[in-house]
Amino acid sequence: MSEQLGTLEELPEDYRADMTAAGVAPLWPMMRNVLPHGAPNPVTRPGFWSYAAIRPLLQRAGELTPVEKAERRVLVLSDPGRGAGAMQATASIYLGLQLLLPGETAPAHVHTPSAVRIVVEGKGGYTVVDGEKLPMEEGDLVLTPGGEWHDHGHEGSEPVVWLDALDLPLFVYLEGSYATEGPLQAQRNRPDASQVEYLSSGLAPTRKHGAGTRRYPMMRYPWTRTEAVLNEMAAYTDGDVAELDYVNPETGADVLPTMGFTAMRIGAGQVDNPPLRSSSAAFHVVKGRGTARINFQTIEFGPKDTFTAPVFADIRIAAADDTYLVRVHDRPLQDKLGYYEERAK
Ligand SMILES: [Fe+2]
Repeated sequence: MSEQLGTLEELPEDYRADMTAAGVAPLWPMMRNVLPHGAPNPVTRPGFWSYAAIRPLLQRAGELTPVEKAERRVLVLSDPGRGAGAMQATASIYLGLQLLLPGETAPAHVHTPSAVRIVVEGKGGYTVVDGEKLPMEEGDLVLTPGGEWHDHGHEGSEPVVWLDALDLPLFVYLEGSYATEGPLQAQRNRPDASQVEYLSSGLAPTRKHGAGTRRYPMMRYPWTRTEAVLNEMAAYTDGDVAELDYVNPETGADVLPTMGFTAMRIGAGQVDNPPLRSSSAAFHVVKGRGTARINFQTIEFGPKDTFTAPVFADIRIAAADDTYLVRVHDRPLQDKLGYYEERAK
């Protein structure tokens, strides 16, 4: 393994010109950019988004731009490593805060990337996925998987805000991202699957002989139940942070092909000090406050704030109050590609 590879400047000018004319370039001067030693060299930097700072901007967007002119009224959380306007929060994760005002609807569409909504505030919002009406209560996790028609509506009296997490950057990179628009969906007149078929974990509807199961059987994960389970677990974790992965209730697999979601409870005074992970992550604070140290950056976080960690980041989260987070990560993608890894600190 050589430390010092040849540079472009060492090569004769006529040779460089002839290479350019032939449409080729030497690998060796650029090789360490794409194959650094030992660990990736991420462009992504830790990010922090204060909800108190963003909420007035969202409100203003509601005054300035009617939903008919926006289709989706969203402020995108841009990775500081890529700069203002970057359509991604990490290499693979897009995050945006979306506002829907009472009486508004966001028209139906379908697209190749998958999305998840984590509800930040407000009552009365709903998402319709494949005809199923999914209520959106604070902290709920609602899936709109790639290829599934979805639209949003609002029957309440106060603004509704949710955090969108999508694998959009990956689809843009693959030149595979596109959407198709359509009319609002007819809604089925029954509660969503989390209230009917999958009300209790460990119980699934009996399979009819020869019939398969739906690819995405449950699209809504109510927060009240998640928090109750985290609290039960916390009593028996021997000081460890209580964590729950969101899974497909029929298969136990991650809920989406590339993105994973983990609910966390860090008790007051407790510290989460995970190993270095090859996955990138975003942490959304459902409740609580504390201090996060991501590499060399220190973040004081409170309820509804969001922060991110690049791949192999040194993460340490100390909770001042009982703190509930949802971690969005790309481990499922890395698992599928066969390179997910954890390293001891
Ligand atoms: Fe969408």
